[in-house]
Amino acid sequence: MNLLCINGSPRTNSNTGILVEHAAKPFVDAGWTVTEFQLGKMKLSPCNACESCHRTGRCVIDDDMSAVTDAYRECDAVIIGSPVYYRNVTSQLKMLFDRTYVHRNTRPLTGKIGGAIAVGSGEDCGQSITTGIIYNYFLSNGMLCVPGEINGLTASASAPGDILKQPKRLQQAGVLGQNMLRLASKLFR
Ligand SMILES: Cc1cc2nc3c(=O)[nH]c(=O)nc-3n(C[C@H](O)[C@H](O)[C@H](O)COP(=O)(O)O)c2cc1C
Repeated sequence: MNLLCINGSPRTNSNTGILVEHAAKPFVDAGWTVTEFQLGKMKLSPCNACESCHRTGRCVIDDDMSAVTDAYRECDAVIIGSPVYYRNVTSQLKMLFDRTYVHRNTRPLTGKIGGAIAVGSGEDCGQSITTGIIYNYFLSNGMLCVPGEINGLTASASAPGDILKQPKRLQQAGVLGQNMLRLASKLFR
């Protein structure tokens, strides 16, 4: 079984990445294969709306999206985390979302399960909007949204790595992973 983790942060030691890794830990312990994409390290360009994928089923842009397409096909579950940027996902993550327009006929994520994580520096400064945007992406792809302790996992942290000082949030990331695993064991047995 395969878990795909997508971290929308451009930073190293990102708070989002740390929470995504804690959410993935139950999957690692259960023997799943985990693939992680940190979008800040990938070469991705925006969709140029040429619509040629509508005719050919392929994207004309040659960049790291082909690895994402392979991972979408192979995974059984997806965790997407994003920093909050202006009460939204990062431009890196939105770019990935738009580029998956090429999948609208093949729908490689349909019936799979998804968990959402959002980290902003403020208190309630767009985290819920951001998890909502990720959930909407999951739903647009025919996926099932899995909650953490309550709803998606949201957190406040500012400098890289600050989230490590919040054991409660790290533990809640683990709860999200456990909830996803529990549903996966019912759906994919
Ligand atoms: C361009 C930009 C916009 C941001 N907008 C918000 C915001 O709307 N709300 C918020 O709470 N934090 C905002 N932040 C702060 C980041 O979300 C915060 O530093 C977070 O910890 C970054 O996550 P990361 O460590 O995973 O990269 C913004 C940061 C940047 C660089």
